[in-house]
Amino acid sequence: MKIATKLLRWYRVHGRDLPWRHTRNPYHILVSEMMLQQTQVERVKLFYRRWIRQFPTWKHLAQASTQEIIHAWAGLGYNRRVLALRDIAQKISQHGVPRTQEEWMALKGIGPYTAGAVSVFAQKKRVLPIDTNIRRVLGRVLLGKPFSDLQDDKKIQKLSEDFLPHRGAYYDVPQALFDLATMTCTKVPDCTRCPLREQCKSSKLFLSGTVKIPKRMTKASKERRHRNKPYPDRIYRGRILKIVREKTKISIEAIGPLIDKTYNHHLDQVWMKSMIQRLSQEGFIKQKGNNLFL
Ligand code: ADE
Repeated sequence: MKIATKLLRWYRVHGRDLPWRHTRNPYHILVSEMMLQQTQVERVKLFYRRWIRQFPTWKHLAQASTQEIIHAWAGLGYNRRVLALRDIAQKISQHGVPRTQEEWMALKGIGPYTAGAVSVFAQKKRVLPIDTNIRRVLGRVLLGKPFSDLQDDKKIQKLSEDFLPHRGAYYDVPQALFDLATMTCTKVPDCTRCPLREQCKSSKLFLSGTVKIPKRMTKASKERRHRNKPYPDRIYRGRILKIVREKTKISIEAIGPLIDKTYNHHLDQVWMKSMIQRLSQEGFIKQKGNNLFL
């Protein structure tokens, strides 16, 4: 039996019921996809419903204040995503909804995956968006590579032509692949329960127990880190923003020990100031004298 037939048969029984699978509204789809970048599905489910109630259309979001959107996004992390999303909403409110993948990609903050996702999920285009999950599954099934990387996307894209259905079911293929990637084809896959094990070019390898599982899947982070701090600056900037969001007013000196137990005024104040400067340049916070505000 063909790959798509097996996959879709499995999906009908095991597929998840996710709120963004009940809509074809490009705005709602884009919100879900931006939230799903780097955030777990279960967490996104809670935020997505609330967000759509608060900002139901491009226009509502385009007109929302920075304060409103930062509050509504609080808990999702990677705060720059929310500013990018509002910028996109403003552009689309003025110029209309993009109609092709290229037009989507011309918007800042939208890469090939997101452009493909909106095109297929909202605009019924026959494309296969490849994110890390889909890359993992199809790299294994089609290429026989237990762990694929970005460079494999072209090959995966080309081979997917052979099994991507030509009628509407091409919408369900990536959705089914997301689910297979989380339930079965995880980092250490459970091939015994996989609907594609007979077609998969990697299942024998995995079932034989000879595949070496890498400890880290991503390259060592290139993110900026300050002296001996255990986390990249991004984490501390997130903490600063959380504190500023929760208190109506706070001084720069008071924040240090709240974001880092080992904060040392002499060694760390330049670092702290540079993070605050960046948050304020990006439009998240305002500085008045020694105090910070949202
Ligand atoms: N990851 C990225 N997009 C997704 C979607 N639409 N459903 C589930 N997981 C996803």
